[in-house]
Amino acid sequence: MSARILDGNALSAQLRGRLADDAAALAARGVQPCLAVILVGGDPASSVYVRNKVAACEKAGIKSLRFDYPQDADPASVLERIAALNADPAVHGILVQLPLPRQFNEKAVLEAIAVGKDVDGFHAENVGRLSQGQEAFFPCTPHGVMKMLESAGIAVKGADAVVIGRSNIVGKPMAVLLTNAGATVTVCHSQTRDLAAHTRRADIVIAAVGRPRFVTGDMVKPGAAVIDVGINRIQDGPEAGKLCGDVDFASVSAVAGAISPVPGGVGPMTITMLLANTIEAARRVADKR
Ligand code: GUN
Repeated sequence: MSARILDGNALSAQLRGRLADDAAALAARGVQPCLAVILVGGDPASSVYVRNKVAACEKAGIKSLRFDYPQDADPASVLERIAALNADPAVHGILVQLPLPRQFNEKAVLEAIAVGKDVDGFHAENVGRLSQGQEAFFPCTPHGVMKMLESAGIAVKGADAVVIGRSNIVGKPMAVLLTNAGATVTVCHSQTRDLAAHTRRADIVIAAVGRPRFVTGDMVKPGAAVIDVGINRIQDGPEAGKLCGDVDFASVSAVAGAISPVPGGVGPMTITMLLANTIEAARRVADKR
């Protein structure tokens, strides 16, 4: 069997076209959607992500403000910036790129962001609202995965889903979104005893471990949908420097029914959902006026 490819670029292009229309409609109502992005330090991967986020905003007609701080920045100065952005009615979304340098208390920074501007969905109140099935900003990567499954017509209700990884950014909110949508969810992680025993009976596997080509064809049930959240750079050997996911595409695509590639799968969907959340935040402001 050769798996159907879940093309995140194509789906993103389609969704972003609609989001650009929404942004233009809000601007015509006098509310220009605006996202503030804070980057601390020069981590190369974070710099690329932030550049891509800002570029995607501009293309969709969302204004972006970018604030760069050095690696040794004083956390107080970033917290002051967040307070000013919280108070600025022209700013609808605030994103602090993670990870932050060691001197930062990540939780304190995320909780400093106004809940209504937390377009990453990382504030404890948004996390709590999500877990209770209330309206909330959903974290962008797992939300993008849900959109991919939905658009591909992959049934979530009643499905057995395995999420590999338990991070606050992907694994945990992914498990909640799948649960809320009616899946039976198992969360696996580094302490899981027999990972393959879990993945082999899953209809949906979400790989968010951060280990190159970790999920192999022998770990996947024939016909399953496999979503690859990983973005790893191969360190050595003939492929050094190349990007790959957490899924071994060659062996898994021969067994699975559907698979998301890396690059061109979940990555663009994460940014698309960030645009969607920013427009939603701006819409709430426009509707209140
Ligand atoms: N670092 C890795 N993924 C993300 C994300 O979705 N948002 C932010 N702010 N930082 C990240």
